Amino acid sequence: VLPGTLLLEAAGRAGIILKTPCGGQGTCGKCLVHVTDGACRSERRPDGPLTAEAFDEGFRLACQSWVDGDVVVEIPDASRFESRQQILVDDTGEQGRLNTVIRKVAFQLDEPSSDDPRSDLTRLRDAVGPVDVPDTLLRRLSGFLRANGWSGTAVLADSRLIALESTDTTRTSLGVAFDVGTTTIVGTLFDLTTGRELGVASRMNAQVAYGDDVVSRIRQVREKPDALATLQESIRDDLNTLIGELVDRANASGDAVYETVLAGNATMQQILCGYDPSALGELPFVQVFEEARVLPAASLGLAVNPGAEAFVFPQVGGFVGGDTVAGMVAARLDQWEKPPLMVDIGTNGEIVLACDGKIEAASTAAGPAFEGARIRQGMRAAAGAIEKVIVNEEVSWNVIGNVRPAGLCGTALIDTVAGMLRTGLLDETGRIVGRDEVDGGVSEAILDRLVSDDGDTRFLLVPAEESATGEAIYLWQRDVRELQLAVGAIRAGISILLRRAGLEPDDLGGILLAGAFGNFIRRNNAVRIGLLPAVSCQRIRCVGNAASLGAKLALLSRDERAYAEELRQKTEHVDLSLDPAFQEEFGAAMLFPCGDAERCRDES
Ligand code: FES
Repeated sequence: VLPGTLLLEAAGRAGIILKTPCGGQGTCGKCLVHVTDGACRSERRPDGPLTAEAFDEGFRLACQSWVDGDVVVEIPDASRFESRQQILVDDTGEQGRLNTVIRKVAFQLDEPSSDDPRSDLTRLRDAVGPVDVPDTLLRRLSGFLRANGWSGTAVLADSRLIALESTDTTRTSLGVAFDVGTTTIVGTLFDLTTGRELGVASRMNAQVAYGDDVVSRIRQVREKPDALATLQESIRDDLNTLIGELVDRANASGDAVYETVLAGNATMQQILCGYDPSALGELPFVQVFEEARVLPAASLGLAVNPGAEAFVFPQVGGFVGGDTVAGMVAARLDQWEKPPLMVDIGTNGEIVLACDGKIEAASTAAGPAFEGARIRQGMRAAAGAIEKVIVNEEVSWNVIGNVRPAGLCGTALIDTVAGMLRTGLLDETGRIVGRDEVDGGVSEAILDRLVSDDGDTRFLLVPAEESATGEAIYLWQRDVRELQLAVGAIRAGISILLRRAGLEPDDLGGILLAGAFGNFIRRNNAVRIGLLPAVSCQRIRCVGNAASLGAKLALLSRDERAYAEELRQKTEHVDLSLDPAFQEEFGAAMLFPCGDAERCRDES
């Protein structure tokens, strides 16, 4: 990372999201980390939450510490946003939420006799309680009981018998929560008897080979008769690879997995269930289902126990899918004192606003600019991508993987545009201005980076001799236009939801940035370019992979599933394409805010 980077941000870059309830003000003490080698620039406030003893031992607040050189930092589990404690420990600090649908009951039945001629099924029910037994297991029941000396373990999902096992297996019960994204799939393995997290694994969604975004995958299904089966197979293989990896690492087998939870966007959820998503490809965008689906995992082809079930998250409507509902569960979106706005920024942006017991949700097609696509020298946030840019007296940048830069990803695009707006190199219409139009106070070194030939204006980020390709890396005028389109789509959606609720940005209790991109975005720059409304940075929070957290909660507690359904029912889907003001808002949002709109300056 660049010298001067906030430790909080460096952790986020490494995929570790810290708790920041005070919004990085240094007052809550929740972002505590331990610097074990090297040093960070940091001061302890006498009235702050960090004691002098803890400071002497190397403990620091990540929101108040800046990296100046090589440093080794340990992150206590309690400081992580997505820690096990957060899932299992309720507000009183008790382990209160473990309430899985899976229950195992070991039984020893009496053999039938002339005094006790109860049927096998009644005998089992009398021992394990009321239970629905599917025909597949009823066919096996008689032989099973007699072959195993009338003992064994009944595995129940709620009141449904899903497996019969010949020994006492009550100590073994696993479940996997999946967040199924368009680009990445994350699976987390849990011990359902203790709620302990046993491992996390992720991989690229192999469907990327069939198109980068959901629209191209829907198009495939609409155009080719066997595309749905191919895409479903692809996702099934990915899920099974992750299951295999997770159970191997835990020295277990797929047979010990009795429950899976899947949260994905609308397209991913329809495809993984094998439902035709074609209706999402035409107006009005219509999903196949709304309420959660509980399916036999075998029907999805998952390599888990043959009786296991799969819980697929409820969905709201249009492109607002199960991942958004899972994020709402994680953020407790209906329980805030002042209205929260949740925004998941990606190719498809989802925006949710909760106000006065009502929730409204919309999705908007932002296009691929945030993922570095359609940017002339853009790339995904992978090794070699410039991920951070600071424009002041000079230009400095940070590259993922500490290699030479090959292009810029979405966060760098936002940083550069924000920096150029601050220095006056861009006007509010998004035009890169000529050198002679720039006000005084801008260094010669920066002015020298403005290049204009044949009407093609651009801003030099990396000279040819410093890049990985031997070609200079620029921000081009056309890139700014692409970003304006993406910003306009998200911001118009936010403005419409605020207007419908009769709210001003200042009325918001917080803006929650969900999803991978939200973790890395510099909040002050997102406000500067108008992507987010001008509120104080304290009120903008990155909430990490909220969908994954919601999926885990639903795996560990049936109450969380009921809560997901409750949230779904409270949520109205707003179809932005039908809102007469959308085009107008979109046009207005394409203009960058004037400099005095900037209120968010707490990050380096
Ligand atoms: S002290 Fe609250 S986030 Fe750092």
